[in-house]
Amino acid sequence: MSKPLKLLLFPCLLSLAILLRCSTADVGTAAYYGPPYLPTVCYGRDPGQFPGSGLFAAAGEGIWDNGASCGRQYLVRCLSSATPNACIKNRVIQVRVVDQGTMLNSMPSRNGTTMVLSNAAFQMIASEAAQVINIEFTQV
Ligand SMILES: *[C@@H]1O[C@H](CO)[C@@H](O)[C@H](O)[C@H]1NC(C)=O
Repeated sequence: MSKPLKLLLFPCLLSLAILLRCSTADVGTAAYYGPPYLPTVCYGRDPGQFPGSGLFAAAGEGIWDNGASCGRQYLVRCLSSATPNACIKNRVIQVRVVDQGTMLNSMPSRNGTTMVLSNAAFQMIASEAAQVINIEFTQV
């Protein structure tokens, strides 16, 4: 391969890689839920399943993937909400999926969302005055 072509190809591949990475971000909705968090569908009564940060989530039907979502990590950002000023802008959290959204021990703030965040996780990115928020999420 000639040198000029190589020099051209590199930035092209680089921008393609960046584009593909960006396109993995998805939009959806999130609600929140509180204790009792145990047992979970993914890991039962094991208290070691929760990240020390308390940032975890239950997967809604769209991302539950028949249980394959257990243990997946997502970066989550609040995009908007019907509740004015509910989003904490530019705050991104990382949550671990530990449960199934339709099988929680406590009632979520809204049914049928893409994911249900732990209280701690939700409060990191939004005000709990909002029962539901629109999110952007990316699997890590
Ligand atoms: C969610 O669904 C449950 C069971 O169908 C129902 O009892 C509850 O009121 C619903 N919660 C909300 C916030 O709509």
